[in-house]
Amino acid sequence: MPVTFHVNGEPVRHDGPADRRLLAILREDLALTGAKPGCEVGRCGACLVWLDGEPVNACLVMAWQLDGRRVTTIETPPARRCATRLPPPAPCSAATATQAS
Ligand code: FES
Repeated sequence: MPVTFHVNGEPVRHDGPADRRLLAILREDLALTGAKPGCEVGRCGACLVWLDGEPVNACLVMAWQLDGRRVTTIETPPARRCATRLPPPAPCSAATATQAS
């Protein structure tokens, strides 16, 4: 059963195995290599991405869990980072600081 979701604002359709890990989908299918393979058991955080705005370890998320979800990786364009919980790039930080004062 196909799974559809968004990665960095772009629609993605996954027709592969439902138990394929998000880390593999990002790195092997989408060539997004910012999330790194490390321990692959959820301990090191090298594969950190954001799923619907919450940090998750991509090595622990299976394809079936992604249907209708929104994945954000470190490769997301800087303008989109301001709308997520990703660490904002410098210009976004400056704008936030200006608004706060
Ligand atoms: S690879 Fe270590 S937490 Fe995912």
